[in-house]
Amino acid sequence: MRYIGSKRNLIAEIEGMVNDKCLSNNVKNNDVVFLDLFAGTGVVAQSFKSKFSIVTNDNMYFSYVLARGETILNEVPNFDSLELDIGCDVLDYLNKLGCSTRAGFVANNYSQFGSDRMYFTEENAIKIDHIRSQIEDWREKYLSDDAYYYLLACLLQAVPFVSNISGVYGAYLKKWDKRAFLDLTLKHPAIINNNKLNQAFNLDANELVRNQKADICYIDPPYNGRQYTSNYHLLDTIAYADNPNIKGITGMREYSASEKSIYCSKVKVHDEFERLIADIQAQHIIISYSSDGIMSEEAIIDVLKKYCDPETVHLKKIPYRKYKSKIVCSDSAVNEYMFYAQKPEFARAEVLTKKKNSCYLATSETDEKHVIYPTATKIKDSNTLLASPLNYIGGKFKLLPQMLSHFPDDIDELIDVFAGGLNVGINVGCKKLIVNDINHFVVDLLKTLGDMPIDELLAALESYIDRYELSKTNREGFLRLRSDYNKNPNPIALYALICYSFNYQIRFNGNLEYNNPFGKDRSSFSEKLRRKLILFNQRLSQIDVDYFNLPFEELIETLVVSKKALFYCDPPYLISTGSYNDGNRGFKNWTPEQEDKLHTTLDKINSLGYRFILSNVTEHKGSKNQQLIEWAKKYNVVPLNFNYNNSSYNTKQGITKEVIITNF
Ligand SMILES: C[S@@+](CC[C@H](N)C(=O)[O-])C[C@H]1O[C@@H](n2cnc3c(N)ncnc32)[C@H](O)[C@@H]1O
Repeated sequence: MRYIGSKRNLIAEIEGMVNDKCLSNNVKNNDVVFLDLFAGTGVVAQSFKSKFSIVTNDNMYFSYVLARGETILNEVPNFDSLELDIGCDVLDYLNKLGCSTRAGFVANNYSQFGSDRMYFTEENAIKIDHIRSQIEDWREKYLSDDAYYYLLACLLQAVPFVSNISGVYGAYLKKWDKRAFLDLTLKHPAIINNNKLNQAFNLDANELVRNQKADICYIDPPYNGRQYTSNYHLLDTIAYADNPNIKGITGMREYSASEKSIYCSKVKVHDEFERLIADIQAQHIIISYSSDGIMSEEAIIDVLKKYCDPETVHLKKIPYRKYKSKIVCSDSAVNEYMFYAQKPEFARAEVLTKKKNSCYLATSETDEKHVIYPTATKIKDSNTLLASPLNYIGGKFKLLPQMLSHFPDDIDELIDVFAGGLNVGINVGCKKLIVNDINHFVVDLLKTLGDMPIDELLAALESYIDRYELSKTNREGFLRLRSDYNKNPNPIALYALICYSFNYQIRFNGNLEYNNPFGKDRSSFSEKLRRKLILFNQRLSQIDVDYFNLPFEELIETLVVSKKALFYCDPPYLISTGSYNDGNRGFKNWTPEQEDKLHTTLDKINSLGYRFILSNVTEHKGSKNQQLIEWAKKYNVVPLNFNYNNSSYNTKQGITKEVIITNF
């Protein structure tokens, strides 16, 4: 995509600087995290993807969609069930759409179908509307998040090729350019698989750096007063599909003050930039800027010298003409700047000074002071993660790669206080595991699945499946087993029931009877589930596991653990019971009092010198967990990978802010 300020032509220079300055012998390529903080088209992050884990960020939503649906993916998402139903490749199908009955916001406002604006021909505008709404229609039934963003990214990449503009959406051309008459065509992008965890964020850069650590941070902010929102508003509107209020000849959507970039403000940019550099948690910093920019070369160097090792600060000037080879620039004095600076305290291989946020704990054996360093750069390979054979509501499997990167390396004992499906417990990789849940059926089940020899376990399970003739269609057999189980509960019968139940849920009524309905045509003890069960059993047989069935506050009083233990808590969520976390399940309801008690318990864990990680959501579909937000102020709140900016448009989409809260 053509993009103002794109660094496509500067990539060789950036690579040269990374090779010269950042890749010393003690940093191995395969665990370097490259953060592209103002990613735009994502072209810079993309160029480093084959070497490093990449993290991209941009405060514009369409840029996030490009990154989420293309740059960070490691494979083309699976469209099998959709393609089975539509009978062809998904993009071939979309490329044939364009029915005038599906004309919508774009046709009505950005083409002469319904307005005076000439951004698109009527045909292409209608086609954009039809494709966009088709993607939304498919979302629930057919599309994973990866697949959804992939299709949106394909659409966004295709739109500029048929836009009647001179490069940006700040204005449309008054005469038709021939590109506008091309037929809008979505194409599969080339996806690079780096077998690493890559992430995309849609945050203000200054906010992200407070929580996101990296090895190399690349900074390419806007350098003049022109907002990217004015230039790319239409791509945002297509990405959001939220029918916003628009105004003026250009039909620009309204952006709130917080969505506009402070990097475009002459008055505020210096403070904003200084805060950014102060807060960055990366060893190597590379900045692109222009000699024509609002901040002077001297101002940038002063800030770098103040917060980085002054000896390392370096500036390379690249004549603008060389970089923009096709553009004739009248001012030969204009240079593209590349600054480099180092924050040695964030070096990973050799720690020169004590890191920010580190804390001292006494180890149980030696009572020596032991330094715990944040380990956000330790990325787990998602291929080695095990998924629990229990499909638990609120299960953390999808978030695991991100979450585990924040777990310290030296945990010798993990206490999974609200174990549920045990997705976290089995993947942390420490030698001792304490499994606790208030639901004793769940604890018995986990213990059985973990302790029983696998042959016996499979044989017992299959005997239930045979005896009750369980299948995707035999509702009667399922109901018979459910009734027998409720008279005479045992863990293997429960697992057989779960395997054929609706969404594989573990649900009990107030009398502690299993009451989840039949999973008609969907649920079964499939080959995939069988494999998960075998691996789960194998993993648990390799570690030392103790099982408890206690309310969390009692568990804490009961345990004696080492100082290198970590308490992991994934409680029911106060503001999102149901789809995220069902606190009830026939057991104790999760109330503000429970929440408060948990906070007090975690404070106690903290004051005793132990580490904890709490998973939660601070905001969900318009409601905020104020109790949690206030309490968490004294700890570290780490946002997980969600798209959020504070625009009113997002309230309609019902954003959820998933976080982990740590005390180390
Ligand atoms: C110069 S462009 C980046 C170009 C990018 N390196 C490329 O090659 O495509 C600057 C980007 O910063 C984004 N941006 C501006 N202010 C921001 C902020 N405060 N936080 C995050 N992104 C911001 C803009 O939306 C724009 O995409």
